[in-house]
Amino acid sequence: MSSELDGNPERVPKPSRDGTPPAKPAGSPRELDGNPEKVPKPSRDGTPPAKPAGSPRELDGNPERVPKPSRDGTPPTKPAGSPRELQGKVAVVTGASRGIGRAIAVALAAHGARVVMNYLHNQAAAAEAAAAVGSAGVLVHFDVADVEAVTRAFKQIVSNEGGVHILVNNAGVAVNVLTLGAKDADWQRALAVNLGGAFNCTRAALRSLLHAPGGGRIINIASVVGEMGSAGQGPYAAAKAGLLGLTKTWAREYASRGVTVNAVSPGFIETDMTAAGLSPERRAEILKAIPLGCVGTPEDVAAAVVYLAGSGAGYVTGQVLRVNGGLLM
Ligand SMILES: NC(=O)c1ccc[n+]([C@@H]2O[C@H](COP(=O)([O-])OP(=O)(O)OC[C@H]3O[C@@H](n4cnc5c(N)ncnc54)[C@H](OP(=O)(O)O)[C@@H]3O)[C@@H](O)[C@H]2O)c1
Repeated sequence: MSSELDGNPERVPKPSRDGTPPAKPAGSPRELDGNPEKVPKPSRDGTPPAKPAGSPRELDGNPERVPKPSRDGTPPTKPAGSPRELQGKVAVVTGASRGIGRAIAVALAAHGARVVMNYLHNQAAAAEAAAAVGSAGVLVHFDVADVEAVTRAFKQIVSNEGGVHILVNNAGVAVNVLTLGAKDADWQRALAVNLGGAFNCTRAALRSLLHAPGGGRIINIASVVGEMGSAGQGPYAAAKAGLLGLTKTWAREYASRGVTVNAVSPGFIETDMTAAGLSPERRAEILKAIPLGCVGTPEDVAAAVVYLAGSGAGYVTGQVLRVNGGLLM
């Protein structure tokens, strides 16, 4: 696959890029409740879905869906798929100032979670993202690659918020370089942020996650690049492949303590990371490789995270959920 994945494809205008939130956040509470206000999303080829997306009866035909008990046997406080099913949960989302992390923070808050939103350089974007999340969000500045800063930050978060129930390791940087020309710093930076960052945050949050009522959740944002490789992105691909190894390892290490650990592996998603221009020819070539024929949005990824964070995914661990339009099957 090309070096443009996760790093350099053409921008497709999306509502959230200009700083204004989309009309409704992905995974909006109304999406799951069959509310008549909800307008069914047309399918990618323009034909309307037979049933409203996310209709409660869509998947099991059972009108009397019974809330699933949580893993430790205690009943969930809210029914599965409830718009507020994450109420009372504290989520930490790293790299929440922009792009996918911002959309995840908005979506988790829309489902009732309190969201601790990490950022590093971009304070203005972080403030705007926090405003989009509203009173459920709180900003925390630290570098996920800095072990001491991460340790300090999580101590503070646990003390302020009473614990961490959901950790989304999303912060990442694209490092686009051919191996022959790669500098030591390229390699180290890609590993330190994309892989080391997730390790640092998970280790710092684990004790709290182990005590999360109903079971803790760790969701790692990996990449299709880590699964299939990408010419010109060796260090980044290695880091993302490593993240899948950590996902499965942590799933095994902490399953007995009620913590589920999964990865979401996005394909070609419209964000700053993928914002550099492309010729129309190159763009058409990339889109040709995506069966759904379009790039994804941060909200597409956020919807997968909401699912994995919710009680409906209580029996899902060690998995890689691909959100890539069929680019890799
Ligand atoms: N976009 C895609 O096509 C795509 C595809 C597959 C996977 N992904 C993955 O999805 C995740 C989000 O990507 P994105 O496209 O949303 O990227 P983005 O728009 O470039 O945003 C990156 C986010 O990570 C934060 N960040 C970067 N380095 C950090 C550090 N050392 N400590 C704390 N925060 C840091 C940034 O914070 P500041 O704004 O403060 O700098 C920003 O909030 C990444 O892990 C990426 O690898 C993206």
